[in-house]
Amino acid sequence: MPQIVVLTGAGISAESGVPTFRDADGLWEGHHVDDVATPEGFDRDRGTVQRFYDERRAALRQVEPNAAHRALAELEETVGDALLVITQNIDDLHERAGSRNVVHMHGELLKARCRACGSVHVWQDTLYDEPDCPGCGVADLRPDVVWFGEVPYEMDRISAALAEASHFVSIGTSGAVYPAAGFVQHARRHGAHTLELNLERSEGSHFFHEARQGRAGELVPAWAREILWA
Ligand code: NAD
Ligand code: APR
Repeated sequence: MPQIVVLTGAGISAESGVPTFRDADGLWEGHHVDDVATPEGFDRDRGTVQRFYDERRAALRQVEPNAAHRALAELEETVGDALLVITQNIDDLHERAGSRNVVHMHGELLKARCRACGSVHVWQDTLYDEPDCPGCGVADLRPDVVWFGEVPYEMDRISAALAEASHFVSIGTSGAVYPAAGFVQHARRHGAHTLELNLERSEGSHFFHEARQGRAGELVPAWAREILWA
């Protein structure tokens, strides 16, 4: 059974109506990264950061998984643990589509983390009324999102999966943010066939054996069918 490792970025959720970061009208056009996506920004002005993530959570409630998320979930139904999805996305659209084997390397919008004890809690709006950590009681909760300058989650597990992969597929990511942007080279060095599925050529397209351009909602189901026929 092939070991398939998929890396997803904001582009896979674009057709669901979630804005990407670096495209025209992307999130980083309308917000300063330093204000809303760094630990320093949070220390300077919690209110601004909380409003930013409140807006993201409200928007997430209005959207649904699309054909690309569903195709990955259906592939997992057939191949099981031979498919690992590593996502840079903080939304829950992979899970809502039915994927189970998912690593959220940049954290999750619907969780909060305590900066005092490290415990992670399902997000509830009442956390604002009672800002103490349900685990240790210290008032130091933050979004469980990995910000610029912080180390992404589960890097050991990811590194091991990339080294074992027979197929590495990158979907809807600009290849602008490391370490995710370097996964293709890691997998390829260890013998994986590497494929990029993105609306346009990305900064890292030349690292892949093959790069296909188009909408994830079309490219991903077509690729999943190829894998199942092979
Ligand atoms: P970088 O892209 O070289 O590295 C980003 C680092 O942050 C990596 O280690 C990455 O893994 C980590 N990271 C963890 N979680 C992340 C997340 N959710 N989103 C993005 N990165 C995450 O950039 P850098 O060296 O941190 O950035 C230098 C400066 O460039 C930053 O302070 C930022 O203001 C700016 N920047 C701007 C944009 C933009 O689109 N406007 C994008 C990237 C960086
Ligand atoms: N189908 C496929 N690809 C698409 C689609 C679509 N329908 N729409 C947009 N794209 C592509 C864009 O062409 C772009 O290359 O998705 C990519 C999105 O890139 P970014 O906005 O840079 O998002 P991402 O690569 O996920 O960003 C990485 O940066 O700040 C952080 O935390 C943030 O995890 C994120 C990280």
